[in-house]
Amino acid sequence: MSANTVYVLNGPNLNLLGMREPEIYGTETLDDVAGMLEDRGRELGLEIDMRQSNHEGHLIDWMHEAQAEGAKAILINPGAYTHTSIALLDAAKSIKIPVIEVHLSDPEKREDFRHISYIGMAAVKTVKGLGTRSYLVALEHVATL
Ligand code: DQA
Repeated sequence: MSANTVYVLNGPNLNLLGMREPEIYGTETLDDVAGMLEDRGRELGLEIDMRQSNHEGHLIDWMHEAQAEGAKAILINPGAYTHTSIALLDAAKSIKIPVIEVHLSDPEKREDFRHISYIGMAAVKTVKGLGTRSYLVALEHVATL
């Protein structure tokens, strides 16, 4: 852990990335994403701490931990909690480090119930609709902070 650590938090069902609805989310796995981010992070001088949980409270605890540990930023793909979790929004508002929202798909081009993003109300930036490249573009943004 250093001041250049970026927490990359992934919410429910993203452990199944690669086999989960590949027509929407693609065939790369979360391990592939971690590898891509670590490679690019090395070039940018950023250390990647990649995590995934299907439990809302874990994501909140990790946001608090990122703050306590003095991380540089949080990239978060909260999965479906994006559209339901005021608790995640409050967590993002409770910490000082920048939160960047990431999505593989573009939720606004999908079902109506995906059009609201609570975390987006506190995020300094949202990157979406670029598949796994959304994560890389978000990391490039961290490097500018
Ligand atoms: C997602 C979009 C959400 O609507 C969905 O619930 C997910 C994945 C994305 O990365 O495109 O689980 O966050």
